[in-house]
Amino acid sequence: MPAPAAFPPAARDAFAAAYPNEPAVLHHSLAGHPLLSLDALADLALALPADSIEYNPGALPIGIAPEDVPAPRLGVVETIRRIADAGSWVALKRVEQVAEYGALLSDVLGELADVVAARTGTMHQLEGFIFISSPGSVTPFHFDPEHNILLQIQGSKVMTVFPVEDEDLLSAQAHEEFHLGQHHRNLPWADRFAAKGTPFELTPGTALHVPVKRPHWVQNGAEPSVSLSVTWRSEWSYAEADARAFNAVLRKAGIAPKSPGLFPQQNRAKALAYRALRRIRG
Ligand SMILES: [Fe+2]
Repeated sequence: MPAPAAFPPAARDAFAAAYPNEPAVLHHSLAGHPLLSLDALADLALALPADSIEYNPGALPIGIAPEDVPAPRLGVVETIRRIADAGSWVALKRVEQVAEYGALLSDVLGELADVVAARTGTMHQLEGFIFISSPGSVTPFHFDPEHNILLQIQGSKVMTVFPVEDEDLLSAQAHEEFHLGQHHRNLPWADRFAAKGTPFELTPGTALHVPVKRPHWVQNGAEPSVSLSVTWRSEWSYAEADARAFNAVLRKAGIAPKSPGLFPQQNRAKALAYRALRRIRG
């Protein structure tokens, strides 16, 4: 029997109405999925390569003996199992490296592939991330280069999403540094930004479409939280990225370039120019 769809027809319609520029709350059926229980995720952490795991071991006692500090690998398993009171967070990255999770990711994104292809071109670089966090954890203000849908599996969180075209929040230089690999992951925050954000509350069975590069920050609720982020890149997002990198070249030459446009503007000329330059540079 085929697995039930992750997104019911109404969620597909809501996604189609929003993609690629607008956030949208979608319903999904993955809460309670056996691959997303804490036990399964502890096994996943053991199966992933070490460089695909990032975690904060949480509050260690002040006087802990060196031999009692958990080894990183066991540390992450323990952290996942004790996430309710670990005061911690775990990010499992590119979970598609483990076959069952790769199949889950392509099933989930396969349900939306036709909508995506019609607007921003073929889906590329499908990647899944799982975030496991203790009550009250905060993910600071930042942005990501992927198209993203964050599916809440367990616990709740509020993701506050900001406009992408407001260069007071996210400067053209921050975009360019990001594409040159020089960007720190968090964006500078100022209290005056707060009024520009839209909070979305996520509970098990809801998901949020987060458009490419929309700045956001996340506050977890009072329960341990598990979220699955399904991401992809598109021809449109690659062109935007390359146009930003080309702008960095222009800026270095003393020119103040115009920022790439939002979809449906295609940014092709600058993207092609940057690709040509990259080839010349070898
Ligand atoms: Fe993010």
